[in-house]
Amino acid sequence: MQIHRVQELFKQSPVGQRVSVCGWVRTRRDAKNNFSFLEINDGSCLKNLQIIADGTLENYETEVKKLGTGSSLRVEGVVVASQGKEQAIEIKAERVHVYGFSPEDFPLQKKRHGFDYLRTIAHLRARTNTFGAVTRIRHTLSMAVHDFFHARGFFYVQTPIITANDAEGAGEMFQVTTFDLDKLPRTPEGKVDYAQDFFGRRTSLTVSGQLEGETYAMALGNIYTFGPTFRAENSNTTRHLAEFWMIEPEMAFADLDHNAYIAEEFLKHVIRAVLEQNQEDVHLLDSFVQKGLKESLQNIVAGPFARMTYTDAIEVLEKSGQKFEYPAKWGSSLQTEHERYLTEVHHKRPVILTDYPKEFTAFYMRLNDDKKTVRNMDVLVPQIGEIIGGSQREERYDVLLERMQEAGLKPEDYAFYIDLRKYGTAPHAGFGLGFERLVLLCTGMGNIRDVIPFPRTPGHCEF
Ligand code: 4AD
Ligand code: MG
Repeated sequence: MQIHRVQELFKQSPVGQRVSVCGWVRTRRDAKNNFSFLEINDGSCLKNLQIIADGTLENYETEVKKLGTGSSLRVEGVVVASQGKEQAIEIKAERVHVYGFSPEDFPLQKKRHGFDYLRTIAHLRARTNTFGAVTRIRHTLSMAVHDFFHARGFFYVQTPIITANDAEGAGEMFQVTTFDLDKLPRTPEGKVDYAQDFFGRRTSLTVSGQLEGETYAMALGNIYTFGPTFRAENSNTTRHLAEFWMIEPEMAFADLDHNAYIAEEFLKHVIRAVLEQNQEDVHLLDSFVQKGLKESLQNIVAGPFARMTYTDAIEVLEKSGQKFEYPAKWGSSLQTEHERYLTEVHHKRPVILTDYPKEFTAFYMRLNDDKKTVRNMDVLVPQIGEIIGGSQREERYDVLLERMQEAGLKPEDYAFYIDLRKYGTAPHAGFGLGFERLVLLCTGMGNIRDVIPFPRTPGHCEF
């Protein structure tokens, strides 16, 4: 017999039909007259399906009445209209097959658990309502990312995870090696001899697929990547992970204005998908995690994003009269408190900030005529701050070389990248969206560790 998914049953309400459903028990209540109610969840949706199991079942006393929270089973039975108001249908069981009992020490008993505790049982937390909702929303967002770019003629390009270049030039790379770290081979000068390693050189986990993405944009026009990236930065915050997913579109013959336009359309598209496809999940999170979540998402899709330059933003911050922990001043990077002031207080909507000082931005960003700022952008959103970073790229051969020298990067490590400026260079632009920051925004969750299945942060890599 075909196995029905609970979400489909609620959608179709096939009263009178014989069905088979599988799932995990959330609760069991035994009534007086020799029958029990089982609430089961199969992960397809937030709602539990109620099963009525009675003494006519051959294993009622021996098995059904021993089912605890977390047990897995298959129920065959008839769909009946429900007496209760909560839901339209329930199942009158004709057969209950138990796959696995779950003893009393199952860590997710029917009560609300704190997220800190749930993080210690990452292998089980997906069975809670909140993590089920977050996971379904994460899925919707992933699909919507592909829909958006596919519909606009962008090609999905898979860039490497093991790389020999530092795309951000920030030195926050995890090393990849086959060396036994306790017995590193040395050169006569006493340095680690990377020539003897697997790739014959020093390699790392990628911090961004951008540079490789640019090579494909310079051939296919519009491309995007969507893959894991790694940062060995020691940031213990609610918005940083050591391993996170990034979406990086790159567009040939595009400038920063077009880049900003695509970024705004893109964010609105994926948020709209969640509002349409995850109504129950958003409602749950709005009720129990972040009050006003739905309205804030609706606000983001409803109006245009604000745009301003970094220089104007500094002026706004200086004149704001706010007591910031770090006063904002031209030439230093913006803190989250500044970003949140701009989005939550000053503009009350997402803001696209452009033209930051070149001193603290990446080497590949196109230098402006003032020689002080670059043609970059950060998209800032309420609650979170920076969600997207992007730029028009430096397409001028000489200027790029100069910028690399200033940044202390060796041109020979980036020969492939410089070649793009030598052979048919063209203006181009792109951005990177931190996928988990997007999931944070769309779920209202407060900690980035709770929107990726298995978070990796300083000191944490449980399995
Ligand atoms: O601003 P970033 O470092 O930009 C780049 O990597 C560019 N190569 C993107 C491009 O132009 N193609 O990172 C982009 C985004 C940030 O805006 C943020 O949302 C996210 O990636 N991000 C992180 N998310 C979680 N944990 C971290 N440690 C993150 N670092 C960056
Ligand atoms: Mg950035």
